[in-house]
Amino acid sequence: MPRKIIIDTDPGQDDAVAILLALASPEDLEVLGVVAVAGNVPLPLTARNARIVCELAGRPETKVFAGCDRPMSRPLVTAEHVHGKTGLDGPQLPDPTMPLQEGDGVDFIVETLRAEAPGSVTLCPLGPLTNIATAFTRAPDIVGRVAEVVLMGGAYFEVGNITPAAEFNIYVDPEAADIVFKSGVKITVMPLDVTHKALTSATVVEAFRDMGTEVGRMVAEWTDFFERFDKEKYGSEGAPLHDPCVIAYLIRPELFGGRFVNVEIETQSDLTRGMTVADWWGVTDRPKNAMFMGEVDRDGYFDLLLDRLGRF
Ligand code: BDR
Ligand code: CA
Repeated sequence: MPRKIIIDTDPGQDDAVAILLALASPEDLEVLGVVAVAGNVPLPLTARNARIVCELAGRPETKVFAGCDRPMSRPLVTAEHVHGKTGLDGPQLPDPTMPLQEGDGVDFIVETLRAEAPGSVTLCPLGPLTNIATAFTRAPDIVGRVAEVVLMGGAYFEVGNITPAAEFNIYVDPEAADIVFKSGVKITVMPLDVTHKALTSATVVEAFRDMGTEVGRMVAEWTDFFERFDKEKYGSEGAPLHDPCVIAYLIRPELFGGRFVNVEIETQSDLTRGMTVADWWGVTDRPKNAMFMGEVDRDGYFDLLLDRLGRF
């Protein structure tokens, strides 16, 4: 039976690839809905981009909602310097024609968790945790009904990408992240420690382009755009495809390795705002609350992406 998931996202080129991977994998995943959140770019653009991606996948019936337009208690910080003005810069993209669902995306998360069997819905946040934390705060009864939260965010050995101390998704809304990490739900984290190992290569990008499909071309052009930032900044070989790690984990968990540790979020300090303080070495007796990944089988990851996206 495919696993039921809700994708919570701020597309973003890597979010787009994650959504495509999920929609390409019906034997593993049933996408109950996609909820946009403000993050890489403001909410109207992430809600638009999520629909463009669903249409690209030939799945215009996918329910796409708009959630929160700003962090719980701070102004929004965006990442156009990485993702471009639209959030999906690179190829020319058509305007979406499929509708945005009426109603609040946070309500959709709450209602879905109440309607589905307890422990049957996995939440997949690929952006700031605002929608998830708002849902948990608005409806505390749903927390115990979540199967698992598998999220992209944070870093330990890699420390930060938006500040020296913090990863973007957690930095944007640390209060939301704090709520989620303290909620008691089962949490699996794909931090920069993993995603900075999930780097594209020229061979991978050419393999996408050589698919000869619209999806292959888009992914290659998104990656070309997205790569320029990491190549300049880190001198790395390619671009980290962060967010698809979440979906790949749901399909092939054996590609990833990590440790079950305590993770706390810094919300007070300006200097280290949004830092994920992971007790990797077990130096405290703080309760373990998250599976914090550190390793990925890079070849296996890209084989999976090429295989599944090749289906479109
Ligand atoms: C995360 O931030 C965003 O820019 C990416 O989409 C990813 O979710 C990486 O720090
Ligand atoms: Ca993202």
